[in-house]
Amino acid sequence: MIDKIKQLQAEFQAIELTSADAIEQFRTHYLGSKGTIKALFQALKSVPNEQKKEVGAMMNQLRSVAEEKIIQAKERLSSISTVVDRLDLTRPGGPETIGSRHPLSLVRSEIIELFERIGFSISEGPEIEDDWHNFSALNFPPEHPARDMQDTFFIEKGEQEMALRTHTSSVQVRVMENSTPPIRTISPGRVYRNEAISARAHCFFHQVEGLYIDKNVSFADLKQTLLYFAKEMFGEKAQIRLRPSYFPFTEPSAEVDISCTICNSKGCNVCKYSGWLEILGCGMVDPNVLEASGIDANVYSGFAFGMGIERIAQLKYKVNDLRLYSENDVRFLKQFTPGM
Ligand code: DAH
Repeated sequence: MIDKIKQLQAEFQAIELTSADAIEQFRTHYLGSKGTIKALFQALKSVPNEQKKEVGAMMNQLRSVAEEKIIQAKERLSSISTVVDRLDLTRPGGPETIGSRHPLSLVRSEIIELFERIGFSISEGPEIEDDWHNFSALNFPPEHPARDMQDTFFIEKGEQEMALRTHTSSVQVRVMENSTPPIRTISPGRVYRNEAISARAHCFFHQVEGLYIDKNVSFADLKQTLLYFAKEMFGEKAQIRLRPSYFPFTEPSAEVDISCTICNSKGCNVCKYSGWLEILGCGMVDPNVLEASGIDANVYSGFAFGMGIERIAQLKYKVNDLRLYSENDVRFLKQFTPGM
């Protein structure tokens, strides 16, 4: 009798109840009125008296194991069926929140794309720069007052003093040192200045540098390239004007204004009622700069320009506070979609 009970216990373990039918079959086979366990209880009568207590306890246990197995199998089945009942494959999907591109990335890509169309390549340089590439090779000798135009973050790095680059003009030098003309390249990147943060100034911002070196490059080429840029960026009606200026690395140098896109040059508070907005600096590359980078200034000439990406984005999207670009406020960021 004891063997029979043990054998049944082992049998239970091997049985898996995965459907309502299997549960019902199990119940009638073992626990039903004509079931195996019932029969065992009836056979208890024939067990010798001194063993009855022990065998009876084993049978009770066997019965509760069978009952427990049924309860658990039913619970498992009902939880599966509620998930399946709730699963409606015909329902439309829930909304996905999609990010948007940063306005500065949009403007940078647009600038890159429109210069690529006229044969400019892309070049990049390091943000931690040495004195030579950021200043000296660009005709800013040590102690020259022009260095004061760009308040700099200096970094101690061993013997050599390094700085966070103050402009992307440093990449001009790196490109000229490492290649031979003709050179036609633009260099987008982040730059740093020691400025108090306000709506109009920040300690980091972004620029795109342009450099064109070849034989017989003239100021007219520079002007035409910038006019092309202004019309592509701000529309066919955009006009430019050049005002004489000073940069140590260009001679002659100019600052470039575009006709105010906000009031159509009628005069508004953004253009301070002048009808013009300043967008970049430019000029013919100074022969000293060509020579410092190993290019023969008697054979080659070229032009360079540098513009602030934040400034272009400000005019394009009418953003009135520089700080918005780096505050990561999604209410600001999600307003920008390509082609706006
Ligand atoms: N590097 C200048 C600045 O950050 C901008 C600039 C002016 C770049 C004239 C040029 C240039 O390449 O020719 O203020």
